Amino acid sequence: MDVKINTKQSLTALQIMQDAAVIPVIVLTEVAHAVPLARALVAGGIRMLEVTLRTPQALACIEAIAREVPEAVIGAGTARSAADVQACAMAGARFIVSPGYTHAVGTACRDAHLPLLPGVATGSEIMAAQEDGFTELKFFPALQAGGLAMLKAWSGPFGDVKFCPTGGITAANAAEFLSLPNVVCVGGSWLVPADAMASGDWGRVTGLARQASELLR
Ligand code: 3PG
Repeated sequence: MDVKINTKQSLTALQIMQDAAVIPVIVLTEVAHAVPLARALVAGGIRMLEVTLRTPQALACIEAIAREVPEAVIGAGTARSAADVQACAMAGARFIVSPGYTHAVGTACRDAHLPLLPGVATGSEIMAAQEDGFTELKFFPALQAGGLAMLKAWSGPFGDVKFCPTGGITAANAAEFLSLPNVVCVGGSWLVPADAMASGDWGRVTGLARQASELLR
């Protein structure tokens, strides 16, 4: 973790990726879980948090974390439209993650002054994102779309692009991905098990976060 980062200032996509080895992909079904979960992750050394727009509670969770956990940098994931980006900005999200890339999402993020980690799975998608100025990209779904071999193949033609592989990454395979020169961090949901959240086992989340934040890059 780069302790020099002031979590209150605006950050670039690269700074967000460099802060810790893992960006947790969070699905929250209870607003009451948002703040203790964020605190548990921060206690384990993970400050860049992606709350996905996959539940009706997601925006309220983003708002709660933005308001009550200033040590975290709250981001929104699964943003698929300009309207999603605008709603996340209103809720206090500090960065946006999308499962794919569209010019509309890229433009909405620029307009809202929010860094974007757009998802890509093909060379054409990388080129579209690069054309709009995005060179830090989420490789999604990483394992299903070619995994380590794909990232190695891309390092030739897309040597100027840095990736955050997400999808199928676990504590067991994260280190392999992180060892690649074009990988800055990985994304994954394994730090936030649904059963730990349901039972309020925040200590387990902190332990998983600590292990993840100690992964070598
Ligand atoms: C995502 O939703 O961005 C990824 O699917 C997370 O994948 P995982 O659950 O395999 O970590």
